[in-house]
Amino acid sequence: MSDASGRFITFEGIDGAGKSTHVARLAAFFRDRGEDPVLTREPGGTPLAESLRALFLGEDMDGLTEALMVFAARRDHLRRVIAPALDAGRSVLCDRFADASFAYQGGGRGMDWARLLTLESWVLDGRQPDLTLWFDVEPRIAAARRAGARAADRLEQQDLDFFARVRAAYARRAEAAPQRIVRIDASGSVDEVWARVQAELERRAW
Ligand SMILES: Nc1ncnc2c1ncn2[C@@H]1O[C@H](COP(=O)(O)OP(=O)(O)OP(=O)(O)O)[C@@H](O)[C@H]1O
Ligand SMILES: [Mg+2]
Repeated sequence: MSDASGRFITFEGIDGAGKSTHVARLAAFFRDRGEDPVLTREPGGTPLAESLRALFLGEDMDGLTEALMVFAARRDHLRRVIAPALDAGRSVLCDRFADASFAYQGGGRGMDWARLLTLESWVLDGRQPDLTLWFDVEPRIAAARRAGARAADRLEQQDLDFFARVRAAYARRAEAAPQRIVRIDASGSVDEVWARVQAELERRAW
């Protein structure tokens, strides 16, 4: 049995790692035992944050502008959705959160790490996820999942280099917060990966 306070669980990893698949699995698992988790995602999760997401995806901008927009969206999401749900005792399952800014704007786009730390401390105001599941998989495997069975072309090779940097930045975050961020080996079948997620929950008696 879980206690009354909601758990804030975030899902991280490169594109195609299996985040959304496991948000859905974990939500079903919680519902099966009578809980009512909130499922949400970033960038987005509120009308304002979704508007910022559309701008952010549609316009060309530098890494700092991108980071400011994503953290602005995160601030709204945290205040309007995440914090109220947790305070009401519901668990929140969030597909990407602050670590993604370090991975994508930091590792992927080369934005200064210290600036990201400053933005994080302003915006989160001390509220961190209780658990971050980092779905770690080789970029090549993730690319194959995204593409189906198709072989990688030249553009996708550029993607592989980008995702290698994103992955390294996730590793850096995990090293700095080993209690919060758990690396899940995301290679293998969905059932194998899910078993690893369940093992982590059991370890915490969640
Ligand atoms: N362990 C797995 N083995 C094989 N295929 C998988 C596995 N996990 C997920 N998939 C498939 O790979 C694709 C990407 O998975 P998913 O959408 O969960 O990844 P994601 O991390 O949410 O990606 P994105 O960042 O692009 O949203 C989906 O088609 C999904 O069904
Ligand atoms: Mg997804």
